[in-house]
Amino acid sequence: MSNIAVLTSGGDSPGMNAAVMAVAKNAAYYGMPLIGIQRGYNGLLGYSDDPADDYFRFDLDTVLDIADLPGTYLRTARCKEFHDPAVREKAAKTLRDLDVSGLVVIGGDGSFQGAMRLCELGIPCIGIPGTIDNDLPYTEMTLGFDTAVNVCVEAVRAIRATSRSHDRPHVVEVMGRNCGDIALYTAEATGSEIVVVPEVKWNVDSVAAQLNRQIAMGNTRATVVVAEGCWASMKPFDVYSFLKPYGKEVFQGEPMTANRFASVLKRKCGMVEARDTVVGYTQRGAQPTARDSIFAFEAGAMAVHLLHSGVSNQVIGVKNGRTFHMPIEKALASKKRFNKKMYDLINSL
Ligand code: ADP
Ligand code: F6P
Repeated sequence: MSNIAVLTSGGDSPGMNAAVMAVAKNAAYYGMPLIGIQRGYNGLLGYSDDPADDYFRFDLDTVLDIADLPGTYLRTARCKEFHDPAVREKAAKTLRDLDVSGLVVIGGDGSFQGAMRLCELGIPCIGIPGTIDNDLPYTEMTLGFDTAVNVCVEAVRAIRATSRSHDRPHVVEVMGRNCGDIALYTAEATGSEIVVVPEVKWNVDSVAAQLNRQIAMGNTRATVVVAEGCWASMKPFDVYSFLKPYGKEVFQGEPMTANRFASVLKRKCGMVEARDTVVGYTQRGAQPTARDSIFAFEAGAMAVHLLHSGVSNQVIGVKNGRTFHMPIEKALASKKRFNKKMYDLINSL
């Protein structure tokens, strides 16, 4: 049988290696040799002096060793040139020259756009949603989201312990790009008092008022979970003019950050201290949870099964808790819904 190929693209996410392992196992089952493409779509463009740096025959033994490792063994990258039709034509030619009859793309919506374009050039593709952000509307979960939430929950639990010891509030920033799901789920799981997300417009004074209400109720240790994208939906606030009289170093025009937000809240709420933590890349580099690994396994198996059955141009996701597939184009056209009800509930006091 002809070859199948697999690549990871966009930001890495926990579970990508587990998905590659599942692809490899199922390819072996169908007797289809597997080619690993390195650094996303870049590996199809002949950039490296040594072709082995771009793609290689993946043996099952290697894949079994990497399955539960975080990061992506195949490496990942962004490839701006892939927006250019001539560049995509070159990538399709590479795949044809390698006798590839199907490509599994593990990545986010951008990577799926690339896959859809390759499908148009006659390369059968299947997408597996690999991103911690959970920003793909057609699926209940993306690979890495559960792990990222678990990392944030562990961080917030530890932070809440020390916040209680010192009677001081804490701003915790989590990732998610333009999606507030990591922040929302983290706040739900930890009983955090305030959550701020990009999906809902907000302003500094109303959050300060919320925190003041907590303090008035005797809660001097509230956690404010903020999604990294929330600064874009904040009503403009002149952080320079506000913090300068207190001697806090901010230069004119500099943006709001978790650190500055904690300083502003401290002053607006009359607290002696407030602290901040940015959870950062520990969310991306963690070992995948069982839930992510299970989804990776089911998605990898489904991807190969589809390609072997001659079905392509599909993405895999989870609906009502079950792994399913649907056409890429339809999936990309759907609209993400944010759970405003839970958001309101968390912020209700
Ligand atoms: P993610 O897949 O996590 O959303 P990006 O948005 O950075 O990450 O996209 C990853 C890669 O997918 C890009 O670097 C590019 O190679 C490819 N890509 C993104 N959008 C398109 C597009 N509209 N057409 C073709 N390729 C695209
Ligand atoms: O898409 C995953 C993600 O971690 C986002 O949450 C974050 O905004 C972005 O990637 C950071 O990307 P990079 O590591 O390329 O700066």
